[in-house]
Amino acid sequence: MAEKDNFILELKKVSRYFGSVIALKDIDMQVKMGEVHCLLGDNGAGKSTLIKTLAGVHKPSEGEFLMNGKPTTFESPRDALDAGIATVYQDLALVPLMSVTRNFFMGRELTKKIGPFEVFDTKNANEIAKAGMKDMGIDVRDPEHPIGTMSGGERQCLAIARAIHFGAKVLILDEPTAALGVKQSANVLKVVARARGKGLAVILITHNVHHAYPIADRFTLLNRGKSLGTWLKKDVTREEILEMMAGGQELESLEAELAEFQRADAATAN
Ligand SMILES: Nc1ncnc2c1ncn2[C@@H]1O[C@H](COP(=O)(O)OP(=O)(O)OP(=O)(O)O)[C@@H](O)[C@H]1O
Ligand SMILES: [Mg+2]
Repeated sequence: MAEKDNFILELKKVSRYFGSVIALKDIDMQVKMGEVHCLLGDNGAGKSTLIKTLAGVHKPSEGEFLMNGKPTTFESPRDALDAGIATVYQDLALVPLMSVTRNFFMGRELTKKIGPFEVFDTKNANEIAKAGMKDMGIDVRDPEHPIGTMSGGERQCLAIARAIHFGAKVLILDEPTAALGVKQSANVLKVVARARGKGLAVILITHNVHHAYPIADRFTLLNRGKSLGTWLKKDVTREEILEMMAGGQELESLEAELAEFQRADAATAN
């Protein structure tokens, strides 16, 4: 009972249909503050649909969505954001030619009054953006530089820092490391750890068990729209997760197929 009260988000038997397509079926999931919850699953498993359901993009076709224990319906992504659920999508929605600061404040411009005019308060905004990034361990030399000059990893970090600055309680990250190299991925994962350290709930979507495992507290595995279950890290090994994701049988048949190719290659070479 005590633990139940800690869940900021909870899905109970949530399904989502698109016409005759069953994208999600009877999903149960609990998200806790101060935890990184990894959502794993193959292409088409329903990961994006699930987070869009949490983020106010889709409404569940069936089932219950609770926030802080109360049944909740979001009419739009803005509603979810106002409730403290911030989503960083893979394309990030940043504007490359605009400055770091401008991107940080996009949609929530910090203004000051000069006479009758409302203008963007560049000086204060620069300081806040720089401090927000620093807090996440990223040193921005000049916050007026266009964001296009930053690396993919730094941009991910900016999107995360921005969400935290504007008071997100739940941070949803859709494949934040998919396009990144080893070092940049490590930076993003460190920022994720800092977000957890600040007490946020982080939902991290990834294909990559090796990225997920070190940072996760809890795993939920999706397979063809259904949840295979949720595990605390102490209850499951990396190998067990890999096996469940790949499906032991599929791996075996892949191996058999590859062996067949090898035989065919060897035959043509002779
Ligand atoms: N708007 C939509 N209309 C119709 N079908 C959809 C829609 N969105 C998702 N689907 C279907 O729902 C299923 C789950 O898709 P989803 O994008 O959630 O998968 P995913 O786990 O995010 O995959 P990936 O790893 O490739 O991003 C797929 O079969 C997809 O075609
Ligand atoms: Mg997806």
